[in-house]
Amino acid sequence: MPDYNNIVRAMFFISLFGYARVLENGLVRTPPMGWMSWGYYMCGTDCEQNPDKCLDEKLILSVADTFYNEGYQEAGFEYIIIDDCWSEHHRDKDGRLVPDRLRFPNGMKYIADYIHSRNLKFGMYTNVADVTCMRYPGSKGHFKVDADTFAQWGVDYLKVDGCFVGEQYLNNAYIHFGGYLNKTNRPMVYSCSWPYYIEFIHNRKPDYPTISKHCNLWRNYHDVVTSWSAVKNIIQHYEDEYSGLEKYHGPGHWNDPDMLIFGTDSLTEAQSKIHISVYAMLSAPLLLSCDMTRVKGYEKNLLLNLDLMAIAQDPLGIMARPYRIDYITLWVKPRMPRKGDIYPSYSFALVNVSGQKRTITVRPSNYGLNCTDGYSVMDIFSKRFLKNITFEDSIDVTVPSEDVILYTLFPL
Ligand code: GLA
Repeated sequence: MPDYNNIVRAMFFISLFGYARVLENGLVRTPPMGWMSWGYYMCGTDCEQNPDKCLDEKLILSVADTFYNEGYQEAGFEYIIIDDCWSEHHRDKDGRLVPDRLRFPNGMKYIADYIHSRNLKFGMYTNVADVTCMRYPGSKGHFKVDADTFAQWGVDYLKVDGCFVGEQYLNNAYIHFGGYLNKTNRPMVYSCSWPYYIEFIHNRKPDYPTISKHCNLWRNYHDVVTSWSAVKNIIQHYEDEYSGLEKYHGPGHWNDPDMLIFGTDSLTEAQSKIHISVYAMLSAPLLLSCDMTRVKGYEKNLLLNLDLMAIAQDPLGIMARPYRIDYITLWVKPRMPRKGDIYPSYSFALVNVSGQKRTITVRPSNYGLNCTDGYSVMDIFSKRFLKNITFEDSIDVTVPSEDVILYTLFPL
C-alpha cells in the first residue's frame, strides 16, 4: 500500500523547489554597458561588397581595443556582444553551432580570450525557435548543447530572441533555456526578448513577475532604428508605462529599451544629450551600436562623462519617475550617495522635446526631497557646482527647445 502522506509531502517539496528555481546568478547588479553589433552592422555578412558593414572577427577585436585604449572601459563600457548572423547555416555533426568560417576563422573562444585579456566581457546571440530572426540556426531542440557550447566558448552574456514561436512556447522556453544556462555553472547574463514578443506579437500582457525572476534584462518595446523619432517613441513608451515597469527594475533585473544610436550620424548634439540622459536616468542598459571610429567628439564627451555614467550606474538602480509639467518632462531619480543612510541624492532631468524653449519652476520638496540641511546643486553637463539650496527653495529652469538640463542634488 503506497504511503500517500509521503507522496503528498514529496510533491509539495518538488513544487516548492520548482517555484524557487529562479535566476540568482549575481550578475549585472548595475545595468550592463557595452556595444552590440545589430543596430549598425545588422546582418553584415557581405564583407566583400560592403566592407564598412562587415560583421567579423576584426570588427569585434577592434571594439575591444577601442574600449581598452580610449577610456570607454574606465567609464563602465564592458560587454561586447555579437548579435544575429554570426554562424554557419548548419550545425556540425555533433549538433553544435558553428561560427561562420570566413568571418570568424579562429572561432569564438579565440574572440572571448582576446576580450577577456583586455578585462572586458563577451556576449553572443541566439533565438528560442528553430532559426534566428535572420534565419540562421536557432536553439529549439538544442537548449542544452547550445548552453554548454556558449559556456565552453567563454560567453559572459547571452541575448536570446523570440521570433517565430507561439505564446505558450515562449513562456516555457525562456525558463528552460535559463535553467540550462545556470546548469553550465558559467555565469552568463541572460537577456530575454520574451515580453516584447508576448506584448507586440501575441497581443497579451507579459508576466513580469515571472520574467524578472528568470532574466537579467528584457526587451519590451520595438527595435530602435537610427532616427530621432525612434528614440523619442522609446522615451515616450517608458514615460507612459513607468508604473507598470519600474517595479520589476533593479539590481540584477532590468528593463531594456534597446541600443543607443550614438556614432550613426542620426542625432544632433542636444538630441544626443536627451537620449543618453533619459537612458541614464532610467538605469537602462547602455549598449552602443556603431563604428567606434565615427563617434563624434561631443558624443564621446557624453559617454565618458563620469558624473553622467554615475547616474546610469547608480547602485540603487531606481528607474527615474516622470512628471509632466507643461511641455517638459521632469524625470526624478533618487540615488547614492545617501547622507546618514537616510537622505538620498537626487538627479533631475528636465527634457523639452517641444519646438520652443520653456521655463518651469521646480520645488524639490514636491518630489520627496526633505533634507533639512539643504542640497548642493551640480550641473552634470558643465560639471559645475551651481548653488546650495534649502529643500523648500524653488529653482527656475529654462530648457531650450529639444534639449535637456541635468542636475544632481547632493544632501548637505
Ligand atoms: C530582432 C531583435 C534585434 C536583433 C534582430 C536580429 O529583431 O529585436 O535586436 O537581435 O532580431 O535578427
